[in-house]
Amino acid sequence: MAITASTVPRGPVTAKINFNERPAPGVVAFNYVDKPPAGQPQRNLPVAVHDVTIIDVRGRESEYTLDRDAFQIVQGLPPSAEETGSGSGFTDDASITANYYPEVEKLLLDNIPGSNRVFIFDHTIRRAGPDAPRRAVLMAHIDQTPYSAEKRVRRHLGDDAEELLKGRYRIVNVWRTLNKNPVEATPLAFASSSSLNDEDVIPVEHRYPEGYIGQTAAIAYNPDQKWHYLSGMTGDERLLLECFDSEGTKDNSGVAGGRLPHTAFEDPRTRPDAEGRESIEIRALVFGP
Ligand code: OGA
Ligand code: FE
Repeated sequence: MAITASTVPRGPVTAKINFNERPAPGVVAFNYVDKPPAGQPQRNLPVAVHDVTIIDVRGRESEYTLDRDAFQIVQGLPPSAEETGSGSGFTDDASITANYYPEVEKLLLDNIPGSNRVFIFDHTIRRAGPDAPRRAVLMAHIDQTPYSAEKRVRRHLGDDAEELLKGRYRIVNVWRTLNKNPVEATPLAFASSSSLNDEDVIPVEHRYPEGYIGQTAAIAYNPDQKWHYLSGMTGDERLLLECFDSEGTKDNSGVAGGRLPHTAFEDPRTRPDAEGRESIEIRALVFGP
C-alpha cells in the first residue's frame, strides 16, 4: 500500500507513557548501560504507566523556543552530505562524524542566539526490529542532570573547561528521523520544561561498563506535565531537545532551564504494518554567550 498523508497519525492523542516512581528514601537509583554485575538488576526504579494526553505541535512549530519551552523545531533543511554523494547513509560512525557533525554544529550556532561554540560528544542511531542495536526509548527521561552536564564539560573541554563553566553552557540533542517517509510509528514526545515540577525529576546513576558513572534523570508522573509531539516528522526537520541550561538554574532568569523530559511512545492510531521509526540524535555542548 502506498503511504499517503492520511496514514500518518495527527492531532492530539491519549497514549501510554512509561514513568518511574521515586526510590525509597536513602536508595540510590541506578541503571547499568550493559549487563549488570551478578546478582544486580539492570535498573532499580519501579515503572509506572500512565495514560497521557499528547498534543500535536504540527502547524505551530515556530511558537516554541529553547529558552521558553526547552524545545525548538527547525524546518526546511537541505539533505545531509551523509545521505547524498559519498555519505554512508547514516550507517558508518566515522562518516557520520565527518559529514553530519559539522552540519549540526552550524545548525546549532545558527539557531541558538548568542551561542559561540559547540562540542558534539555523542550520537545514537535508533532503528526498529529485534536485531537493532539501539531502539526507541519507551521511558520518560532527561539525558543529563546539572551534575552530569558539568562533568561533560570537564571531560571534553579540558583546559578550557574552567573558563567555559563560568559562562552559559547547555546540552542540546538534535533529533531527526532517518525514515524516507514521514514518521508513522513510535514518535518522540516531550513535556514542556515549564510544566515540570523539580520534585518529579529523579537522578539516576548511569553506570557504564568501563566504570564511568554518568547521571541521567527519570521522571515521575504528574498531571501538570504538558506533553507534546510533532506528528509525521520528516528528514528535513530537526527537533532540538534541551537537556540542560546553566542559565535556567539561576533564580528568576525567566528561561526554561533545559531539563526537557522526553520519551518515545506507541501511538494507538499507528497502523499495524507501518514502517518502524528510525532516527539519529546528536548530543552537543553549546556555549555562550
Ligand atoms: C534522545 C532520546 C529516544 C528515542 O534523543 O535523547 O531519548 O526513542 N531518544 O528516539
Ligand atoms: Fe534522551
